[in-house]
Amino acid sequence: MCGIVGYIGKEKNALNILINGLKALEYRGYDSAGIAYFNKNKIITIKEKGKIEELEKIIDYSIESNIGIAHTRWATCGDATKINAHPHSCGKITIVHNGIIENYDDLKEQVKKDNYKLISETDSEIIAVLLNKYYEEYNDIIKAIVKTKQIIKGSYAIAIICADIQDKIYAIRKDSPLIVAKNENASFIASDVPAILNYTNKYMILNENEIAILTNENIVFLNDSLQPIKKKILTFEGNTIDAQKGHFKHFMLKEIFEEKDIIKNLIKKYNTIEKLEKKLGFLTKYDNITIIGCGSAYHVGIIAKYLLEEYANIPVNVEIASEFRYKNNFLNKKSLAIFISQSGETADTLASLRKIKIKSVDTLGIINVQESSIAREADKVIYTEAGPEIAVATTKAFIAQLIIMILITIYLGYKNNIITRDLLIELLTNINNLDKYLNQILNNSYKEIAKKIYQAQNIFFLGRNIDYGIALEGSLKLKEISYIHSEAYPAGELKHGTISLIEENMPVISIITKDNIFDKTISNIKETKARGSFNIVISNKEVNDSDVNILIPNINSILQPILAIVILQIISYETANLKGCDIDKPRNLAKSVTVE
Ligand code: F6R
Repeated sequence: MCGIVGYIGKEKNALNILINGLKALEYRGYDSAGIAYFNKNKIITIKEKGKIEELEKIIDYSIESNIGIAHTRWATCGDATKINAHPHSCGKITIVHNGIIENYDDLKEQVKKDNYKLISETDSEIIAVLLNKYYEEYNDIIKAIVKTKQIIKGSYAIAIICADIQDKIYAIRKDSPLIVAKNENASFIASDVPAILNYTNKYMILNENEIAILTNENIVFLNDSLQPIKKKILTFEGNTIDAQKGHFKHFMLKEIFEEKDIIKNLIKKYNTIEKLEKKLGFLTKYDNITIIGCGSAYHVGIIAKYLLEEYANIPVNVEIASEFRYKNNFLNKKSLAIFISQSGETADTLASLRKIKIKSVDTLGIINVQESSIAREADKVIYTEAGPEIAVATTKAFIAQLIIMILITIYLGYKNNIITRDLLIELLTNINNLDKYLNQILNNSYKEIAKKIYQAQNIFFLGRNIDYGIALEGSLKLKEISYIHSEAYPAGELKHGTISLIEENMPVISIITKDNIFDKTISNIKETKARGSFNIVISNKEVNDSDVNILIPNINSILQPILAIVILQIISYETANLKGCDIDKPRNLAKSVTVE
């Protein structure tokens, strides 16, 4: 959600570096873009509505500059227009901002009294106005930054340049990520690591209440009392290839194909009882678990609830983070709160974590992005190690989250004497062998199925128990990238109202991986068929009542959700591809949702 890039260096190709940085952050989602740079002692700002290519049409790359800031905006306050695009300027100050300034209405009224004129509809412009106001008052940029920080409320990552100071970029942040990096020739800031990977894989995290001051020689970090502080230097373990499509048409497809290797690498760290004890032993002391997340991460929670309750006999509550943060909860000293997040920066999930920590409830983050806010703030973290996920719609991170939850389930099931030692070892072996089954799936083409559904207006996904969790994720995947409306329902619930929507030829996609409810789901499929639906069934046994039956390899039922969901991911991909959708960057969506 929005992307920031800043560059200051010895080389004078700032425009190139900034635009390439923005392109590396495109996956975050945006609808306008802009840059500001120094040229002939002046700050020049160029911005445009739409894709970065639109901005490039009005950029003259022959212009030399060694300092600049750049931004991709995902509209929140104010439409996606050129005027609302960042950077925003006031007087000598130019800024780019990610996040939301919650008190901007009040602040606007106040600065209007001082005769400041605001030209955009954004909340962000007020930051430039305040910085300029206090810079004029104190003639000291640091004092102006400190004062502005005290006044603005909400979330922000902000990069600042000042017309009087041509050799520095300043940065601050709160509840919105920002990394800072340095190589021998330059310093960089960015919302995420891919923006700087062409120049260095070493980076530092700017923390809340700190100020970063970048020059081409060094980076100084000041703490809350404006004292210089040392920073831990982190190394990005992936490489630039991870952030490229390779021979795949889309990142999403590449990421689906990476899933088998991610599982193989993960399981190496958990493939013996000793390793499980070491990594997950701390989990045995809890009586109950609450899982909190948004979107697909929430769906992992739903599937995990069914798994943990059945195979580990532990009560599990699953909460949507945006709801959880504003409601009462009954977690206590015997509860564990698990926060699932790919980005580790999702505003609602982070706020829920902070809410729970006040109650001294133990917290565990299941996180993909190393050193992200949730990873740092949770008491414990398990990394999903899926590598950078570029496509907005999650696939490989979802699978890695599910694998971790399956490992937690089977370990706790073993400790609670529900899963025998032999079964545990068999399950670990089968997780290790999942790549064979996934290869079978990936070798199939689901294009024919996509052809049957891509013109549909509405699609239902049905399942019971774990299969309902899979249905939820299959439905979300399809609607977010193909824009086909779909709904997931617990199969038995449909007849309590929603079945009235079934029409002749409406596709209904059902998932059946659980043997004990096989016949029950079949009955529900028959109910829709009797009303004319076109039934696609993903199951581990043949289903005669289906129009299309996709059989999944018959492995332990606890692992079958993995296979079913990969099939649904590919069907969604092929359907969106047939429709010619912008698969990696679906309209209106952002990868890392850092606002409420
Ligand atoms: C769907 C999707 C979103 C995310 C959700 C949470 O494909 O990607 O629903 O799962 O925004 O994001 P994280 O996992 O970063 O907290």
